[in-house]
Amino acid sequence: MKPKVLVSYRSDNFPEDVADRLRPLADVVRVSGDYSEQLREAAVLLASGEKVNDDFLAKAPKLKLVSRFGVGYDAVDVDTCTRRGVYVCHTPDVLSDAVADLTWAFILGWMRRIPEADRYTRGEWGKKQRGFPFGWDMGGKTLGFLGLGRIGTEVAKRGKGFGVKMIYHDVVRRQDIEAQYGITYVPFEELLKTSDIITVHVPLISSTKGILSTKQFHMMKPTALVVNTSRGPVIDQKALTEALKAKRIAGAALDVFEVEPAPLTEELLKLDNVIVTPHIASATWETRRKMAERCAESIKAYLEGKRPPFTVPEQRNVTF
Ligand code: 8YV
Repeated sequence: MKPKVLVSYRSDNFPEDVADRLRPLADVVRVSGDYSEQLREAAVLLASGEKVNDDFLAKAPKLKLVSRFGVGYDAVDVDTCTRRGVYVCHTPDVLSDAVADLTWAFILGWMRRIPEADRYTRGEWGKKQRGFPFGWDMGGKTLGFLGLGRIGTEVAKRGKGFGVKMIYHDVVRRQDIEAQYGITYVPFEELLKTSDIITVHVPLISSTKGILSTKQFHMMKPTALVVNTSRGPVIDQKALTEALKAKRIAGAALDVFEVEPAPLTEELLKLDNVIVTPHIASATWETRRKMAERCAESIKAYLEGKRPPFTVPEQRNVTF
């Protein structure tokens, strides 16, 4: 009997022809809803956002590989997986461009007030010249990066063309990137105080959870825009909502939320100084295909008895 690979994705994320590449080696089954029954027999899981923890793994005694369809793996308890001899793979690099593009779409969308201009064109434009959507130039603005990893670097690369002053804070100094894209390292407080736009590119780990909260919003310029295309919980959403309501900061552009899908009752969704999208940063046809291919590469290697590529950094030196 062939090993079972569960794909908890629709075919627009994990194309059928990519699934077909695994079929000579495995029984590939798409699952949705409660798939505990199939999980019992599964060797591989292509995971969306499900929490892969002790409880989950207890229901999956044959599981040997969790392939995260994304770069972020905060939903997967890697220590527990390692203890149980389960590989954890993800999809770094292939989505950095798409996420960086959305980040810039947010920045430019806010600076040129595209959502309001769209509404204005369909409403007030022909009637009266009130509320004409004037925006702001990019040139001369300070763009502050919280995190300068793969995705932050792609954002900085694009920033070079916009004439912005770029500064960053990270736990790791990136002197190579500093020189290449003209970006300067600053302490966290300075980043908060001097940035016109703060864009977040850190992974969700215990030290980054709620890294932007009331205290940090108080330090920002009242004209500041906060952009988040990383993970919702790195920002304390309640504190952000209060800061936006009190006009402590000017705006936020968010692709990610503490709870997803963000409930329609969420106060943040009712504010007009916020631009929101439904976690679409990597959702382009090309990028999602590349992500699927990267997952398939890891799964195929494992099924052929090799060590899978693209394991998460914590498992770099681990072989089961
Ligand atoms: C995906 C992501 O939308 O890469 C990530 O970590 O959050 C996104 O690219 C998500 O993984 C889809 O499951």
